[in-house]
Amino acid sequence: SVMAELAGISDMAKALKEKLGVRDVVIVPGDSDQTFWVQRDMGRATVARLKRELSSSVHNTIAVTGGTTMASVAAMMSPDKENRPMTFVPARGGLGETLELQANTVCSRMASRAQSDYHLLHIPDMVSKETFVKMVEEPSIKNVLQMIKDASIVVHGIGEAKTMAKRRRASAELLEQLEQEHAVAEAFGYYFDRDGKIVHRVKTVGLQLDDLKQVEHVIVVAGGHSKAEAINAYVKQSPDIILITDEGAATTILKG
Ligand code: G3H
Repeated sequence: SVMAELAGISDMAKALKEKLGVRDVVIVPGDSDQTFWVQRDMGRATVARLKRELSSSVHNTIAVTGGTTMASVAAMMSPDKENRPMTFVPARGGLGETLELQANTVCSRMASRAQSDYHLLHIPDMVSKETFVKMVEEPSIKNVLQMIKDASIVVHGIGEAKTMAKRRRASAELLEQLEQEHAVAEAFGYYFDRDGKIVHRVKTVGLQLDDLKQVEHVIVVAGGHSKAEAINAYVKQSPDIILITDEGAATTILKG
């Protein structure tokens, strides 16, 4: 029955929370590798959880990354019933994704569905060092970078390392390096091995991994059995997170 299934899922969430040592776990039924709608359900669960963490006393600045999972979070976003003020910002500059999957796109889509405010980071992926140094001094860009640093909530995805590097058209050298260093996970431009050690990072502006420690709520959304190893690796170095995942990933992690 549906009730029995839900009870099973909440037991599984408890077990996974314990195994990973994270702050909290939410699991939606199904496997997003097999069924597209499961990713939308994770999106819906992420939106619900995000709203639980909104503050009514201070302005909520929410930094978000890109990717298909985050695009699903944006697709399920809705206005806050309590009208708590929210501003969305992209967590980091360009990582080489196509327009649909960029943090800027996810950010503007999320804000429009939430009927709230947003700011974008207009920095091209490839500029000379001199241009780059000048650009980050531009008041409009500097302002957004400060907002990112002040974000109280970060929502980001996790990817499987090789899948992400290929999708972003990484060079043959980088692919080789990731292979040699046994990279298994990727999150906002950082690549990790199975112990959660950083093996590579894309140099770009915005949120850096160390900054996450200062963020009040970090919501990580990743599912599908193919991401089990990546999730496992990532939380080894960032355990203080709220994980939104699916049954496919959860079952695989618990078996391992
Ligand atoms: O940054 C991208 C995410 O880490 C994973 O992307 O949601 O499309 O699998 P995805």
